Amino acid sequence: MVILGAGPAGLLLGNLLHGSGIDCVVLERADRGHVRTRARAGFLAANTVRVLERHGLADGLHRAGRAHGTCEFRTEDGRFRLDYGRLGRGERHTVYPQQELVTDLLNRFLDAGGRIRFETEALAVHDADGPHPTVTAREPDGRPTRWRARYVAGCDGRHGAARRSLPPGALRHRHDHGATWLGLLVQAPPSLDAVGYAVHRRGFAGHMARTAEVTRYYLQCDRGTPADAWPEERIWHELDVRMRAADHGPLHRGPVVHRTVVDLDSDVVEPLRHGALLLAGDAASVLSPSAAKGANLAVLEAELLAEALVDDLAHGDPRALDQYSRRCLAHIWRAQEFSHWMVRLLHAVPGPYGRSPFEDSLRRARLESLRTSRTHQDWFAENYVGV
Ligand code: APR
Repeated sequence: MVILGAGPAGLLLGNLLHGSGIDCVVLERADRGHVRTRARAGFLAANTVRVLERHGLADGLHRAGRAHGTCEFRTEDGRFRLDYGRLGRGERHTVYPQQELVTDLLNRFLDAGGRIRFETEALAVHDADGPHPTVTAREPDGRPTRWRARYVAGCDGRHGAARRSLPPGALRHRHDHGATWLGLLVQAPPSLDAVGYAVHRRGFAGHMARTAEVTRYYLQCDRGTPADAWPEERIWHELDVRMRAADHGPLHRGPVVHRTVVDLDSDVVEPLRHGALLLAGDAASVLSPSAAKGANLAVLEAELLAEALVDDLAHGDPRALDQYSRRCLAHIWRAQEFSHWMVRLLHAVPGPYGRSPFEDSLRRARLESLRTSRTHQDWFAENYVGV
């Protein structure tokens, strides 16, 4: 087995295959330090915790993770809180910074004797439809190498070699949600004890605790806005206005330590298997960040893929592998549907004719339904935490 990418998908897959005696190697273009420190999502779904517990990989999150089950919506009609941990299936998120999870998975894999080739960039996957697919790669010293495998797992994200190597018949659904976020990491304690979603005519603002000292904020901005365009004074002014700090209390301010601009888009590759090449994680599908799904789909797919590969390679039973794409796509499309609903709930996205008062009224009605209907709240909770 050759696994492309040492993110949540690739590292979990590597741990599960190695633990089942399947010979595998991970090719990762970044160096070890970058892999361990890359700050990404941090909201683990209940299923993700169950998967990690099932395989003895949850020590770190049991030690440092903390349960989270409340979100707060702030709108022109006031604010309301959903204790989603008591709604739907009663599941909560576990807040655990992804770089901690990736470090746990990396350390366990290496301690168990797993092989990772850092600073080794996969260039392409060849002959995936044949019995002996190969991966061409560039070594840290620039030397070209070729790796042979029975299967190749593409866990190298949406811009990786696996996607570049898909055959012409592969279908790639792409959806641009039309909204753009200025993502901010602020050195200040959280201002709410909840995930904050502020819907405002000036645009969306979001609040997510990362740790007791660091908070992530989002501000909807115009497409094409450079990350450093807004001075900090404007950032805090927009956050105060959109989160209605005057009505609901001041935000804890602090230096903005990291900025990024994210266009909210989604994509899905179909099918996820092309002969001996199998996709998982962002290489398979990308969700808009609005639904806090992050690495949860990647973890679910990596476990399904590991089980299927062990059935095939260790027991000669190809059935689960034949079903892998269909099973994952069912989860992916469920998550995509909820993510799309969340984007529309939180953002006024100018259409071809500018702002739509009709859309604004629909959004207001959806929020009112979410505020008042227990049935709607249960549906929200089940999809918000589930994968
Ligand atoms: N060769 C080798 N490695 C590569 C290549 C390549 N050509 N291209 C990308 N990579 C590596 C990246 O450096 C990264 O370490 O693949 C890894 C992909 O990791 P992620 O982007 O984290 O993707 P994945 O494991 O699918 O996790 C998906 O986790 O990062 C969060 O919320 C994010 O939804 C995302 C989820």
